[in-house]
Amino acid sequence: MSQPLITLDFLDSSPAPVAADAQPAEAVRVSPATRTGRQRKLYIESYGCQMNFSDSEIVSSILFEEGFDTTEQLADADLVLLNTCSIREKAEQTVRMRLKQINGHKKRHPGLLVGVLGCMAERLKTKFLEEEKIVDLVVGPDAYRDLPRLISEVDGGQKAVNVLLSREETYADITPVRLNSNGVAAFVSIMRGCDNMCSFCVVPFTRGRERSRDAHSIVRECQDLVVAGYKEVTLLGQNVDSYKWASEDGTEYVNFAQLLERVALVSPALRVRFSTSHPKDITDEVLHTMARHDNICKYIHLPAQSGNSRVLKLMNRTYDRPWYEERVQAIRRILGDDCAISTDMISGFCSETEEEHQDSLSLLDFAQYDMGYNFFYSERPGTLAARKLEDDIPLEVKKRRLQEIIDRQQLHARARYARMVGRVHQVLVEGTSKRSQDYLSGRNSQNQVVIFPKGNFQKGDYVNVLATSTTGAALLGEAVG
Ligand code: SAH
Ligand code: SF4
Ligand code: F3S
Repeated sequence: MSQPLITLDFLDSSPAPVAADAQPAEAVRVSPATRTGRQRKLYIESYGCQMNFSDSEIVSSILFEEGFDTTEQLADADLVLLNTCSIREKAEQTVRMRLKQINGHKKRHPGLLVGVLGCMAERLKTKFLEEEKIVDLVVGPDAYRDLPRLISEVDGGQKAVNVLLSREETYADITPVRLNSNGVAAFVSIMRGCDNMCSFCVVPFTRGRERSRDAHSIVRECQDLVVAGYKEVTLLGQNVDSYKWASEDGTEYVNFAQLLERVALVSPALRVRFSTSHPKDITDEVLHTMARHDNICKYIHLPAQSGNSRVLKLMNRTYDRPWYEERVQAIRRILGDDCAISTDMISGFCSETEEEHQDSLSLLDFAQYDMGYNFFYSERPGTLAARKLEDDIPLEVKKRRLQEIIDRQQLHARARYARMVGRVHQVLVEGTSKRSQDYLSGRNSQNQVVIFPKGNFQKGDYVNVLATSTTGAALLGEAVG
């Protein structure tokens, strides 16, 4: 049933974002077609983070049971769902523009049902129905099990809304329809929500309280993926290091390091990645677990947000610069210099001075990140910062600082690629290179893109590749041994 992903980002995508507008959280994925003869057709587009892409797989699974195949053609759809993101204003504008296009389509297809899912649905609730008349259905991230009932209400001519957040829902028992997958790598959601209150962030309001999924169901899902031929899982959560699950009888307690180990033991041929780590929570136990298992990829996404302690305090990140630097040093101590680290940085947060911005640049130099996802600050209604702090940095200053961060980060990304030349990398092949049909593209443990001549290899193979050169955003090489 699962089909290759149709995605608007590319296999050989640059790990070093180059422009302020090319950041991943605004990416959109159109789910591909499942053709199993179901009566109705669902077209689903996902915006925002990997959690949303993963949720779309759960939604497709729930609606598959209700008689919906997915289609990749809007023109074929009976039901259009947009799984939306609220993280920055631009993410919401993108969805609004898309709804306008879909409105044009609906005028020609009056029977079409249109629904909004995800974080924007949760943030705007019934307001959505007032603001966007074409929307029939508004469903928040914890209410997807209610979709069949809501759709039957809409079928009956009503508008339908469910934006209740839950303290328990993890969709643990729902087997996702693997839409966002190339058949090699899959996302596995291990927790939902977030209990941190970073002052800039809308996620605690749109995703609710943090809860961890049953460890056994996670391991079972990974075992099933191995049986289905998958070679890589990414364990997903807003703050994976605070994963904690206890069995109902209280005899079993699993923290993130222990979960990681259990998943690593599913199969030595299964690569394990995880995202996102919060600097206040990542423990030496997690780092030692990574060191013990070759199949846990040596790559940590450890968003700093700022390099200045005063700004970090205003952001309510609960760590300061010395703490963050110590965590980077712990990674280097336990996993060595080869372990890749990436960050998220926000430029122009409320009251950030030029000197404080310089501290963000110097943190890039300190950490020598392999990759950075960088953004200028976008005030989000209802957040602590929106209520208590003035959004006082002019847009052009925010953008200039952002460009400086991107430029500096690119230097480090290039250097990190360059140091890998001349070495042999174990590459998991993800598919044909977008540059040429004769080349394959995959990633090494550090999540760097590696491109090499196809030979007799294919998607899903592990290949040892000697890196002979780099473009600064990918390694080029040839298979050895
Ligand atoms: N849970 C992750 C972050 C998830 S949101 C963590 O704590 O690191 C992804 C990224 O979006 C954040 O790391 C942050 O850099 C960025 N972001 C969140 N809110 C933002 C805002 N209001 N303006 C600009 N960027 C924001
Ligand atoms: Fe947002 Fe902070 Fe939670 Fe990340 S940890 S999702 S930035 S509140
Ligand atoms: Fe966006 Fe919601 Fe993810 S706000 S980044 S889709 S958790």
